Amino acid sequence: MKIEGKEYRTIWFENNIVKIIDQTKLPHQFIIKELRTVKDAVNAIKIMEVRGAPLIGGTAAYGIALAIQENNDPEFIKKSAEELIQSRPTAINLKWAVDRMIKKLSVINSDQILDAALNEAKEICDEDEKFCENIGINGLKIIEEIYNKKRETVNILTHCNAGWLATINWGTATSPIYHAHNKGIPVHVWVDETRPRNQGANLTSYELNEEGINNTIIADNTGGILMQRGEVDMCIVGTDRTLSNGDVCNKIGTYLKALAAHDNNVPFYVALPSSTIDWNIKNAKDIPIEERNSQELSHVEGIDENNKIKRIQIYPNKSRAMNLAFDVTPAKYVTALITEKGTCEASTQGLKELFK
Ligand code: MRU
Repeated sequence: MKIEGKEYRTIWFENNIVKIIDQTKLPHQFIIKELRTVKDAVNAIKIMEVRGAPLIGGTAAYGIALAIQENNDPEFIKKSAEELIQSRPTAINLKWAVDRMIKKLSVINSDQILDAALNEAKEICDEDEKFCENIGINGLKIIEEIYNKKRETVNILTHCNAGWLATINWGTATSPIYHAHNKGIPVHVWVDETRPRNQGANLTSYELNEEGINNTIIADNTGGILMQRGEVDMCIVGTDRTLSNGDVCNKIGTYLKALAAHDNNVPFYVALPSSTIDWNIKNAKDIPIEERNSQELSHVEGIDENNKIKRIQIYPNKSRAMNLAFDVTPAKYVTALITEKGTCEASTQGLKELFK
């Protein structure tokens, strides 16, 4: 998708270096960062220079290639794989991508392993882009249906950033929105700010602006009243891990939005590539929920009047704060899952029918 009219993907490999858009600097600075070692990749995931389930999967895949480029030793590659998997706990795409890389490379000769790793990492990224595009084509039908009934702007609420910046391209939740916009359907997006890291305000609104899509940032607690007033036609969010029973783990606050949607008969959709499905964990209680540094809550960052990035404390000195990064929305509150293969009920049966 575009930034200042120029097409980008979120990650690419060039001259033996992995390049990423540093998302900790957006929206105020656009900086392309270089990852030269597996440690750089681990760090980029940890401090969220790259974030969003599919993109951290893609970065981890390239992280394996960087490890091989650095030191083509089986023990080093194994240790690097473990470090990558542990860099963030909740999004299953990370483990999925590393496991896929290791499986692929396990049958490759040592002298060909780097080329094979680079090819597989690119394949993982290309596949994600294709899957996200298909999610858009499948989700477009839902937006079109609402538009055909309403014949007025379709108001869509989204949480966090499940946009192209969270994937390789297109995004998951935003892909149907981009497809609708490209087809000439008038859409307006309510963008949850998404405290504490403000991925909605800093990333979703930013990328929608760059694509010329009408959007309004709202405080995280505003969605409820908008739904009561009939100002939300549908919600679409992404997910970091969806269980085979349809329970959806996503950015903290998603659950409360789903409850409000349920209470107001607003359809609540979750968009995901199949790499985000965890076929092993059966109980949502077993999903590892990331708890991040409480300074993400107590401090905020922005630009001052001289366009300088500044970080300030907003909480009292003596206050304790807790920063859980994800929650789980039970399948019963999810209207449907939108995947690369089509749309299905958020249930064991629904997912089984699509992914036999
Ligand atoms: O903590 P983040 O910014 O990595 O969280 C991202 C989300 O919660 C997204 O909704 C999710 O990864 C889906 S991305 C297509």
